[in-house]
Amino acid sequence: MIFRGTDTVAVLMEWILARLVLHPQVQQKVHEEIDTVVGRSRLLTEYDLTEMVYLTAVIKEVLRLHPPGPLLSWARLSVSDTLVDGYHIPKGTTAMVNMWAIMRDPHVWVRPLEFNPERFFNNCNNMDISIWGSDLRIAPFGSGRRTCPGQNLAMTTVTYWVASLLQKFQFGRWGESSIDLSEMLRLSCEMANPLMVRIHSRKVCS
Ligand code: HEM
Repeated sequence: MIFRGTDTVAVLMEWILARLVLHPQVQQKVHEEIDTVVGRSRLLTEYDLTEMVYLTAVIKEVLRLHPPGPLLSWARLSVSDTLVDGYHIPKGTTAMVNMWAIMRDPHVWVRPLEFNPERFFNNCNNMDISIWGSDLRIAPFGSGRRTCPGQNLAMTTVTYWVASLLQKFQFGRWGESSIDLSEMLRLSCEMANPLMVRIHSRKVCS
């Protein structure tokens, strides 16, 4: 619980901030949504999160391109001989699912390498799809019996923290440095080079 529940959340937040710095127009839209739903004169509460539809789409798009847990079923064995898609899987095999590759598959996604949160809105290619494991085009928390038990907690925590940070701050590039999206698979799939940003305070309106 400690390994799966802390590292993943921290890593996902770092990827989200990296994408918001890389795509300032997306950050601007998240700021506008927070200003509309919450404003700047009171603190955000958990009740506000259900109205943050654009931020939710941004987080889904980050999970699609940068899943903290890219390989599913690390510790599972087939209990009997079976056939999957014509392939014979003998009893005792460990077969991992490469969710990272599925979520970048051009047969599944339109322009898969493009960062485009809009793809998760209903009016855009009917892509209003679930990330909770019922749709295997995007299952960043796994699927089935051994799906992530912390997925709701994870999404609530990440949305709350990112929204709280963005209510108060604007994130920009650190000097001339570019955002390096290289990955490193450690306990989770992390940024190979930690994110460096410049943080500007946003005006508090009464
Ligand atoms: C962004 C955050 C998170 C991501 C992306 C994530 C992702 C995953 C994935 C992909 C799995 C494997 C599922 C499979 O093999 O089908 C998993 C398992 C697990 N997760 Fe999460 N997780 C996150 C947060 C959390 C949190 C907050 C907790 C607990 C507080 C948690 C607890 C666990 C546990 C205990 C398992 C193992 C379940 C089992 O093997 O039966 N995770 N998670």
